[in-house]
Amino acid sequence: TPMNIAVIPGDGIGPEVVAEAVKVLEKAVSAEDIELQLTEYKLGAEHWLESGETLPDATLQALRGHDAILFGAVGAAPGDTRIPSGLIEREMLLKLRFSLDHYVNLRPSRLYQGVASPLANPGPIDFVVVREGTEGPYVGNGGALRVGTAQEVATEVSVNTAYGVERVVRDGFRRASARPRKKLTYVHKHNVLVYAGHLWKRTVEAVAAEFPDVAVDYLHVDAAMIFLVTDPARFDVIVTDNLFGDIITDLAAAVTGGIGLAASGNINMDRTAPSMFEPVHGSAPDIAGQQKADPTAAILSAALLLEHLGYDAAARRVEHAVIADISQRSPDAARSTAAIGDAICAAV
Ligand code: NAI
Ligand code: MG
Repeated sequence: TPMNIAVIPGDGIGPEVVAEAVKVLEKAVSAEDIELQLTEYKLGAEHWLESGETLPDATLQALRGHDAILFGAVGAAPGDTRIPSGLIEREMLLKLRFSLDHYVNLRPSRLYQGVASPLANPGPIDFVVVREGTEGPYVGNGGALRVGTAQEVATEVSVNTAYGVERVVRDGFRRASARPRKKLTYVHKHNVLVYAGHLWKRTVEAVAAEFPDVAVDYLHVDAAMIFLVTDPARFDVIVTDNLFGDIITDLAAAVTGGIGLAASGNINMDRTAPSMFEPVHGSAPDIAGQQKADPTAAILSAALLLEHLGYDAAARRVEHAVIADISQRSPDAARSTAAIGDAICAAV
């Protein structure tokens, strides 16, 4: 049976970078004699303007029928008042991640040969952040009283369950155990966020007993930010909650050469629903429609998709092609989105 992929280009640069990722994906699977079937879905801010739909149940149901989802980015330009702020992010993107139970948000960070890091002495950077994807402060467990008055009170209560923390921590240990350095750093702030923090701490300690080969380290999130800049080479696998992981991975993208290279997977490791692969960046309205976006993050996300589905040889092809292309980049020869995609395609 062919590999059955849903494609959601989205808004802004989403369609531009996804077009290149699809090109590379098609090339890599044909080189490995894998059959590929692609189905495109229109979702995002533009789609909402045209149809009033965020994520209809029928679309969600249809998405469930695919092996995986390749996603670009969604979101309106900051000044676009036609679209309620955060509507698409909450009602479409977060709804997808929660409905499809994407509890592992995987974000690899590697400083590739030939890429300039803003750090003076970056050292070898090669770590992966396992960010919890379905809990924490992002679940919408909050409310507000007396909105707009001087007495306004707003809450946004982080939800952490034993079930949810355990499954993501276990995934972090599995990944650490499979990597050469076998090191896991869990990041939280359990000196002040004691209830959630202690659940995380006890869970890490319990799961660690099953993985005696993995060295465990703990950092408060603020200290982790310092080390990410002063000594990023110390990290191998980082496991952390939804909010901390969101912040850590943007800084991680910055120290490894920028948001144009950062790939991610929203993964359901139990495979009860399709996982979704997307660049970390957003829809970049400031450069949309100009062929200025770097499609590399989207292309590396397609490699993560192939790896997740077990097509390791095709995944390696894409990754090696990206590494080869990156090593030849020159800062004074800017290429269009399509030109970068074509070059990576040729290397595949
Ligand atoms: P952004 O990631 O879209 O852009 C931040 C900066 O990075 C911009 O200057 C942009 O030009 C640049 N940039 C981003 N991707 C690039 C690429 N591939 N190549 C070269 N430069 C790139 O973040 P921003 O501006 O905060 O958000 C814009 C919209 O995207 C908002 O509506 C936001 O809500 C949405 N967003 C959506 C995400 C998603 O779909 N997963 C994630 C983050 C933001
Ligand atoms: Mg983010």
